[in-house]
Amino acid sequence: MTCTILVGGQWGDEGKGKCITYFCTKDKPDIIARAGVGPNAGHSVECDGDKYALRLTPSGFFNTDARLLIGAGVLVNPEVFKHEMEYLSKYTVEGRTFMDNNCAIITEKHTQADKDSSYLSKKIGTTGSGCGPANADRINRTIDYAKDIPELEEYITDVPTEVNKALDEGKDVFVEGSQGFGLSLYYGTYPFVTSKDTCASTAAADVGIGPTRVDQVVVIFKAYVTRVGEGPFPTEISPEEAEKMGIEEYGVVTGRKRRVGLFDKEFAKRSCMINGATQIALTCIDRLYPECEKVNKYEDLSQEARDYIEDIEKDVGVPITIISTGPDLADTIDLRDEKL
Ligand code: GTP
Ligand code: IMP
Ligand code: MG
Repeated sequence: MTCTILVGGQWGDEGKGKCITYFCTKDKPDIIARAGVGPNAGHSVECDGDKYALRLTPSGFFNTDARLLIGAGVLVNPEVFKHEMEYLSKYTVEGRTFMDNNCAIITEKHTQADKDSSYLSKKIGTTGSGCGPANADRINRTIDYAKDIPELEEYITDVPTEVNKALDEGKDVFVEGSQGFGLSLYYGTYPFVTSKDTCASTAAADVGIGPTRVDQVVVIFKAYVTRVGEGPFPTEISPEEAEKMGIEEYGVVTGRKRRVGLFDKEFAKRSCMINGATQIALTCIDRLYPECEKVNKYEDLSQEARDYIEDIEKDVGVPITIISTGPDLADTIDLRDEKL
């Protein structure tokens, strides 16, 4: 029985979608539970040449034997959810995807308020997905829960009971967070953050798991750093420099150009501390070292790339167990057998 939580270590977009797919396909957990804020996320999943952009469905959907659950802490936009049920129909997500009774529901009113507020849309640079206004209504105790919405009836379950029962029966549960440490309402760069904490303890609470049941916390970092929206970014470089280094990026949900910066070890250390990291997944190493593209053995990485990785591991003080060398599932180096 293993309970694993994966969370973003930077400002989101670290490649959670890819790494979650890897873990869920390789380890075959019985339950994959989505934690995090809500449909402000944009996870990318690529496998066998197919590409998907997801906002609510657990990114582990590729494992067609797993039950896919959305925890009570997560905001659900029923339109986004229904769209994804159709979009992913090839993977028979209907019949195995459920949300908790107490997921709070985003409506048009929330998305409109997010877009209409110049404080949110311009000063903070939100995704416009309605998450902030919905969490505000949730705190004011005026929002509807999933159990109040007849059209969602067939998708509703008691997530904490399912997850804890699975662990009691010796099954594996994988919890996927969204966003990243720097966007945490508690520990991030306030006020330039999302509308809730994004750390591992909150991810556990989101799906109804107590801290004593968690075995592994994977914190994911990109080999450089990206950030969308406003806010402090100490290691930021200019768009020209990013382009020269070949590491420019665009957002999955909003299409916005991502700000780019160099890896920040002090930030990563604090992120690992507050998340209680037991291991690190490091992505996009191929974008810094193109000769490493699609490499899937550690010894086949260039010396320069290995030095870079070992330097981060030494200074941050947490084992780097997964190294990602491309967006596809196959482009992965897995060192867990050696390092854990
Ligand atoms: P958020 O929930 O928004 O934080 O999403 P995310 O962490 O899933 O990341 P997102 O999909 O927004 O962005 C990561 C991008 O990098 C996607 O386009 C991925 O396909 C891609 N990607 C992930 N891992 C790698 C990698 O190792 N190498 C390369 N070249 N691309 C990668
Ligand atoms: P909100 O979560 O839409 O309220 O946006 C608040 C801040 O979090 C903005 O800077 C967004 O760009 C950022 N943000 C929210 N979700 C994500 C994500 O999934 N990836 C990257 N940034 C995000
Ligand atoms: Mg993203």
